[in-house]
Amino acid sequence: MTLSPNDIDDLTHTAIQAARLGGAILQDYAQKGFTIESKGESINLVTEADLQSEKAIIQSIRTTFPEHQILSEEQGLQDIPQHPIKWIIDPLDGTVNFAHGFPMYNVSIGVEYEGTCIIGAIYDPTRNELFLGQRGRGATLNGTPIHVSATPTLVKALLVTGFAYDIHTATDNNLKEFSAFAIRAGGMRRTGTAAIDLCYIACGRLDGFWELQLKPWDTAAGKVIVEEAGGKITDYAGKPYSIYGSTVLATNGHIHSEMIEVLREIRSA
Ligand code: IPD
Ligand code: CA
Ligand code: CA
Repeated sequence: MTLSPNDIDDLTHTAIQAARLGGAILQDYAQKGFTIESKGESINLVTEADLQSEKAIIQSIRTTFPEHQILSEEQGLQDIPQHPIKWIIDPLDGTVNFAHGFPMYNVSIGVEYEGTCIIGAIYDPTRNELFLGQRGRGATLNGTPIHVSATPTLVKALLVTGFAYDIHTATDNNLKEFSAFAIRAGGMRRTGTAAIDLCYIACGRLDGFWELQLKPWDTAAGKVIVEEAGGKITDYAGKPYSIYGSTVLATNGHIHSEMIEVLREIRSA
């Protein structure tokens, strides 16, 4: 199976529509209220909004592309025969923010073709910002092309990271890395949404992002957006990044090797 430019247009159109649909559902629940549950004993939450956004997104994709594979955070991999196209969905990235009324969250939809992420649509309904990446066609924010920053060095860079839900018990918990970067960078942020972290690297609001243990739905869309905006995304060792891997480092490219060096030093100490 090969994809024509028209096929890419159709996939992109559906991804954008589904991301906006999910975003509208999140805003509706943000206004009217929602139930919250814990996933097991952990600090990982799921709200009614995650579930309803996911349901609507999957339904809208299946209406157009019933034969495509779908992997989403809450429902997992849909029971559909193998297909070269896989949709990878986070129906609400930033659930903890959402549950607290902290207005920073989004819907993230990635399209993988034969194992490569080719389209990413991330919609932040709180700012009405739609980030789009299409392999070979560039990256945009609300239709305007975006590019990573020109920040040349770590000491001038604004960094961002996040922490996995096992932070209360895990030993490899990102705290050593956080301390090391805090005293070497220009500034540090924690937004609570990995997809937005990647979008902000892509449009130059942030310069470097690292995190452990992210899942495919956190980064599938963001990977395309960062790469198409001229950024660099690898694992901590600088090897090609897989959305199924355990570490991610995304930067404007200029500070990448400095960040790899800090990660190597701290993680081997
Ligand atoms: C989480 C967010 C957060 C990151 C966590 C993710 P969720 O996703 O992206 O920034 O630090 O590792 O699990 O649970 O809100 O979809
Ligand atoms: Ca997520
Ligand atoms: Ca989620």
